[in-house]
Amino acid sequence: MPMSHLPGTSAATRPRVLIDCDPGHDDAIAIVVAARHTELLGITTVAGNAPLDRTTRNALIVRDLLGIDVEVHSGADRPLVAPPVHADYVHGESGMDGADLPEPVRPADGADAVAFIIDTCRANEGTWLVPTGPLTNVALALRAAPDLADRVAGISLMGGGTFGNRTASAEFNVWCDPEAAATVFGFRGPLVMSGLHLTHGFQATPERIARVRRIPGRLAAVLADLFDFFSGTYVSRHDGLLGAPVHDPCAVLALTHPELFEASDAHVAIELRGEFTRGMTVVDRRRLLDRPAPNCRVLERIDDEAGFDVIDEAIAAFSR
Ligand code: RIB
Ligand code: CA
Repeated sequence: MPMSHLPGTSAATRPRVLIDCDPGHDDAIAIVVAARHTELLGITTVAGNAPLDRTTRNALIVRDLLGIDVEVHSGADRPLVAPPVHADYVHGESGMDGADLPEPVRPADGADAVAFIIDTCRANEGTWLVPTGPLTNVALALRAAPDLADRVAGISLMGGGTFGNRTASAEFNVWCDPEAAATVFGFRGPLVMSGLHLTHGFQATPERIARVRRIPGRLAAVLADLFDFFSGTYVSRHDGLLGAPVHDPCAVLALTHPELFEASDAHVAIELRGEFTRGMTVVDRRRLLDRPAPNCRVLERIDDEAGFDVIDEAIAAFSR
C-alpha cells in the first residue's frame, strides 16, 4: 500500500521534528536529511552505538559540519533496565569511525534530554519525535509527561522489523532497551516503524558512495569516508549485502517523502521475556478478523534510488 501523507505532514509543509539519536554513521545522515527537509527543533542524544559522551560529541560534530543552529541535549547514558551495550563492531570506538572529524566548536546545550523533549513538545504542538537509537529518552519523556501523547504529531522511529540483527529476532535499538520500546509502542499516538526488513533495501552501495564523493565540499567528503567505513564493517560481516543498510534516515524520509514508501498497518508488540526473543518486535500479520487493532504503520519497502537522490541533494545543499 503506497503511503499517503501522515497527519501533520504534507508536501507543502516542513514537519516539525525532534531527533533523538545515537550517532552513529546512519544517524548522521538522518540529521542531514532532517536539517534539509524539516523544521528541526532539536537533537537529543542517547547511549547506543557508543557511550553517551561519544554519541553526544558526534551529534555536535554533525551540527558543526552542517553549520546549523540547533540545540543538542544529552540524555540517558544507559537503558531503563538492561545493562548498557554498544556497537563498536559496526561504528567503531568513537561511534563514528572512518573520517577525519573536527573537534566540536561548542559543548552540548544541556544534559537533560527528557526535559528538553517535554518542553519542546509542549511549546510546539504537532512535533514529530524521530528516535533513531535506543528509545530510553523518549520512553522517559512519555512516562514523565503523559500529555505528550496528545501533543505530538506522532513518533517515527528506526527500530525493530520482521527479523533481527543483534539477535536472530531483535534489532539493536529495540534490543538495547526493550522496556523503553514497550512504552513507546504502547503510547497510542501515530507510530511509524522503519524496521530492518525496510532498511536492508536501502543500502549504501559502492556506486552510491562514489556519487556522494563526487559532490563538491567538505561535508560530502567526510560523509563519503563515513559511508566507506560503515559499509566496510557491514559487508565484511554479512553475506548478500552490497553496502550498509542506511537505517536511520528512513525514519525522517517517512515524514518528508512518504511517497517513497509502501506501508501496512499492524499491531506490533515488544517481547520482554523470551530467552531467544527478548527485544523482538512481534508484528501481527494474521488475516484474522479479530486480530488486535493496529498500533503502528510498518514501512515495508522504499524506492531506494529515489531515496538516495534525496540524500545526495541534502548533502549537496550543505556542502561548501
Ligand atoms: O539496528 C540499526 C540501528 O542501530 C541504527 O539506528 C543504527 O544507528 C544503530 O543505532
Ligand atoms: Ca542509530
